[in-house]
Amino acid sequence: MQKNKSNKVSIVMGSQSDFKTMKLCQKVLKLLNIKFETKIISAHRTPYRMYQYAKKAEKNNIAVIIAGAGGSAHLPGMIAALTSIPVLGVPIESKRLKGLDSLLSISQMPKGIPVGTLAIGEDGAINSALLAASIISIYDNKIKKNLDRWRIKQSKSVKKKPK
Ligand code: RP5
Repeated sequence: MQKNKSNKVSIVMGSQSDFKTMKLCQKVLKLLNIKFETKIISAHRTPYRMYQYAKKAEKNNIAVIIAGAGGSAHLPGMIAALTSIPVLGVPIESKRLKGLDSLLSISQMPKGIPVGTLAIGEDGAINSALLAASIISIYDNKIKKNLDRWRIKQSKSVKKKPK
């Protein structure tokens, strides 16, 4: 993967219902001019799709995988077990436990297979894209410039005094 210095991000999510959160990740990647693909893959409802996806991810030149999942939220960890591409997990806010279940499932990976875990919900979706950009910036100067510009704009947007 490093040979091609790919800058393509793959966004996956366990269900269509996750898209209202994960579309914010797409939005940020678009702003930073980062290529991406988006798929629905469920670790428990489509386990074979998940396996094939993860096994082909390296061949498909994916630099970073962002996986959003809610509830038991085993998707990011299962994908991370099948590939050494960095996996960032976004805990989706669940109905009953407000995403605490998703957060604990994704963050509490036992040693050996890491998943970079973001915040629950929309903040996590946005930050997952920014973190993917930081990872890609290690070897892609164009993306680094886009990310730096985005941060400067963010700083400028913060007013010095409250209204
Ligand atoms: C998980 O179950 C998905 O990631 C989703 O957050 C959650 C609920 O899925 P649906 O019942 O809305 O399809 O697999």
